Amino acid sequence: MRFIEDVEKVRTRARQQVSEGAVTPTLQTDSDRNCAVLNEALATELICILRYQFHYHMAAGIHSAAVKSEFKEHWTAEQHHADMIAERIRQLGGKPDFAPEALRKSHTEYNEGHSLEEMITEDLVAERIVIMTYAEMIRHFGQKDPTTRRMLEEILADEEEHADDLADLLYSVNPSSGKPTERLTATEAVKPIRRNGAHARKTTRRR
Ligand SMILES: [Fe+2]
Ligand SMILES: [Fe+2]
Repeated sequence: MRFIEDVEKVRTRARQQVSEGAVTPTLQTDSDRNCAVLNEALATELICILRYQFHYHMAAGIHSAAVKSEFKEHWTAEQHHADMIAERIRQLGGKPDFAPEALRKSHTEYNEGHSLEEMITEDLVAERIVIMTYAEMIRHFGQKDPTTRRMLEEILADEEEHADDLADLLYSVNPSSGKPTERLTATEAVKPIRRNGAHARKTTRRR
């Protein structure tokens, strides 16, 4: 017996509404709602790109080289995520929202931080937020839209790796015990940020 019993019916349905491209009746979901969910993810990725870019350009101090390369690697990954999400929104018949005001939908915040340690911490918090919100979205799409679910699962795996990388930057590990020992010396102050003519607070070393 064939797995698809009524192939003719499938062929007929495929010919109907050809202009909808990848959207077929097998997507048992509300396309508008799904695009809205994905646009929240897109806004979140865009905020993450901006925050990582800011951190990359502002990172200074003796430990900044390794941290800067990590920031750049993450911002490139977030850019890839944003492109994947935008492409999927378009495939679903929606419009990826790149309008600056749409950034308010982001789940994460644009927090600058005043030292390398604060920057890494802000990025780690943001990664932990997206790990939770992507897990929620994966549950939302479930079996109803497996392609979007798989895309989100792929992104989630990257975000978990990012969080792990950032935690490694914040804490040194004793190689003999495998236990965290002390915070890395990532507390050098960054250049004060000029805003509205005033200098932002300059963080002092905490050691
Ligand atoms: Fe991302
Ligand atoms: Fe990330």
